[in-house]
Amino acid sequence: MSELSVNHLLGIKYITEDDIQLIFETADHFKEVINRSIKKVPSLRDITIANLFFENSTRTRLSFELAEKRLSADVVNFSASSSSVKKGETLIDTVNNILSMKVDMVVMRHPNPGAGVFLSKHVNASIVNAGDGAHEHPTQALLDSYSIREKLEDVAGKKVVIVGDILHSRVALSNIFALQKLGAIVKVCGPKTLIPKYIDRLGVEVEGNLRNALNWCDVANMLRVQNERMEISYFPTTREYTQQFGVNKGLLDSLDKEIVVMHPGPINRGVEITSDVADSKQAIILNQVENGVAIRMAVLYLLASKIQHNED
Ligand code: CP
Repeated sequence: MSELSVNHLLGIKYITEDDIQLIFETADHFKEVINRSIKKVPSLRDITIANLFFENSTRTRLSFELAEKRLSADVVNFSASSSSVKKGETLIDTVNNILSMKVDMVVMRHPNPGAGVFLSKHVNASIVNAGDGAHEHPTQALLDSYSIREKLEDVAGKKVVIVGDILHSRVALSNIFALQKLGAIVKVCGPKTLIPKYIDRLGVEVEGNLRNALNWCDVANMLRVQNERMEISYFPTTREYTQQFGVNKGLLDSLDKEIVVMHPGPINRGVEITSDVADSKQAIILNQVENGVAIRMAVLYLLASKIQHNED
């Protein structure tokens, strides 16, 4: 297979295992490129990409921008907080105004689930979802699975537990789809109030006890409690959450085996993981960030080749 089955990356739900493998193989090549002394290739020299961020971001925004620049694309950045969205302009009007400046691709983070899907139906550009509310964060899940593949050689057959605030997490949903498509076995662990009721329909088991979950898994992906998406309290206190669902070095060292610890960031140090875990050799958190650039280069490159192909 040499091209993606989709024209947009809206969610892992919409792509196939073959798409994911193609993205990984392409990312292998770009990872080699970004470790050279000359890190830039001319692949997207005729492509203009708009990064539209309607929600805060550090890793995803910088990683996309770097990926675009490494591919020699022309890049425009838009942040809702300093734009005419504040004066009441709609999403479609905002995007159409940007597209009239001849933009080919849009990378968008938005607080509303489905914003990327909506946009893909209304504008003539390739859309990449950089996180839509509590729905999906496909490039995060791709870089997470890619990092597991890099560390453990394969994703198939690996046992992965996703710990924490599953209910409000786009990272959890995209990771579940990606890991299952790649043949991993996935469990979730967290307070009952933060586990969605539909979780069993996704073929995911719930483990309420963190020590049992960690003793079962090869990889633990620790999620942040997303206070910004909560209007009520889902657990009594942060201290109690940390006591039951936080990983510290003592717990990690007392397990039957050495597991891999992941975190999508931003980390609440001392809440979901302690600093000595985040900075330990079992944690691959910064490898995830590094791999994010290669994965995003691969996604942009493969989607752009479809635009060029469709124009031929
Ligand atoms: N992991 C992630 O999406 O981080 P940002 O919110 O900083 O982009």
